[in-house]
Amino acid sequence: MEKGSVTRRYRFAAAHRLHTPHLSDEENKTVFGKCNNPNGHGHNYALLVTVRGDINPSTGLVTEIPELDRIVTETVVARFDHQDLNHDPAFSQRTTTGENLVLLIWDLLVNRIPSGRLQKIGLIETRDNYFEYSGEVMEKRSV
Ligand code: NI
Repeated sequence: MEKGSVTRRYRFAAAHRLHTPHLSDEENKTVFGKCNNPNGHGHNYALLVTVRGDINPSTGLVTEIPELDRIVTETVVARFDHQDLNHDPAFSQRTTTGENLVLLIWDLLVNRIPSGRLQKIGLIETRDNYFEYSGEVMEKRSV
């Protein structure tokens, strides 16, 4: 069967502050710059979810988009939209960087794709910041 991929775009707005207790206040400022500002700041995130799989010969589709939309909205968008990411339990031991966000979102979605398989999570944080993850590390992380 022919393979194809489809990418859906979702949006959520969230606040965060980049800060780790493993570094001194001065080191945090050096590493994270203005993202370490104690008052936090917000982003309008764009989330790109790519699913790859067989193109169903009857429908011409790789996956059921309405079902994918429902799952991503319930699992990711509803969880993060208009929230402070630093208060999410998944980030109690990790910083709320884009790198860590795409890992978490991958884990939240990887076993819930209606058909086909999750190929990539992309996250646009700002005009100049983009993060992605394609499941390179296969061992299970706790989320
Ligand atoms: Ni930020």
